[in-house]
Amino acid sequence: MILVTAGNASPTYSRPMSTPHNRAIWIQGPSAQCNVTPEGALVPWRLILLGAPGVGKGTQAELLNRRLRACHLSTGDVFRAAGSRPDCEPSPAMKEALSYMRQGKLVPDFTVWEMVRERSSCLHCRGGFILDGFPRTLAQAELLKDLMDREGLKLSAVVNYDLPFSEIVVRLGGRRTCERCKSVYHITERPPRFEGKCDRCEGKLIQREDDRPESIKVRLDAYECSTAPLIEFYSDLGLLLNIRAKGAPDDIFEATFSQLEERRVREVAQKAWVALENHA
Ligand code: AP5
Repeated sequence: MILVTAGNASPTYSRPMSTPHNRAIWIQGPSAQCNVTPEGALVPWRLILLGAPGVGKGTQAELLNRRLRACHLSTGDVFRAAGSRPDCEPSPAMKEALSYMRQGKLVPDFTVWEMVRERSSCLHCRGGFILDGFPRTLAQAELLKDLMDREGLKLSAVVNYDLPFSEIVVRLGGRRTCERCKSVYHITERPPRFEGKCDRCEGKLIQREDDRPESIKVRLDAYECSTAPLIEFYSDLGLLLNIRAKGAPDDIFEATFSQLEERRVREVAQKAWVALENHA
């Protein structure tokens, strides 16, 4: 079992923060209990966010979480939490995973899948979920599909964020994260009120180890080789929504939300039509 703990990652954007779900089961493992679970939804949103590292998936996941109430489940957050837990020595598998991560390489599928499988109750959460950073390879996508098919869970959509690599490098190079509460900033696009200090908790802002230039290149290469093929995988399943990730986070969020709503309205209309035809 891979046990870890962490605070809540929450970016500081224009809207006030609502109480974030504490995601204890996701972050700490199945022996934990979530203190704040999302309100149940009639039809929960079950989303995957795709896109290169630094495209803004985490930022959008937090904005989507506030509107849709679905939990933000990031595999990167689980690994980072494992690496920052002072009271617990990471397991050998987790140590290996952290070493891959620091170099910008993908963690082996087996380790990632074990971690997700242990937390599969989160996929049943009555509030839904927003997967960020998983799946990242075709093998992971197939494993997730098999598990969801077996457990009768249906994905609502897969949102693919797109941005030229040159702009991604600027976003990653300028990202700073609060050591304590994990809020995300950018030194020019989203600077904190006081340099080096978190607006929310006054924690120290640090640069992620894998945001250094040598790791960024490795991460972008890994994305091209292993993750980009998922665009076709989910397009073939009729689940893909493409969103241009340029512009302000709030505008990208509105574009995402309106495409999701359109998709849901279309689905409801189709279901009603089929029901009518069956009745006739
Ligand atoms: P992970 O934590 O998933 O990182 P990532 O995918 O590389 O994504 P990032 O968190 O770097 O970027 P993001 O797209 O969330 O962008 P953000 O919103 O922060 O994974 C880390 C590592 O863990 C991997 O490299 C791998 O080793 C391992 N791992 C995790 N999952 C794995 C898996 N399934 N399989 C194998 N290995 C796995 O935004 C970036 C910056 O841009 C911020 O500063 C933000 O403020 C700014 N920004 C955001 N939006 C905008 C905007 N619209 N305009 C201007 N600035 C913006």
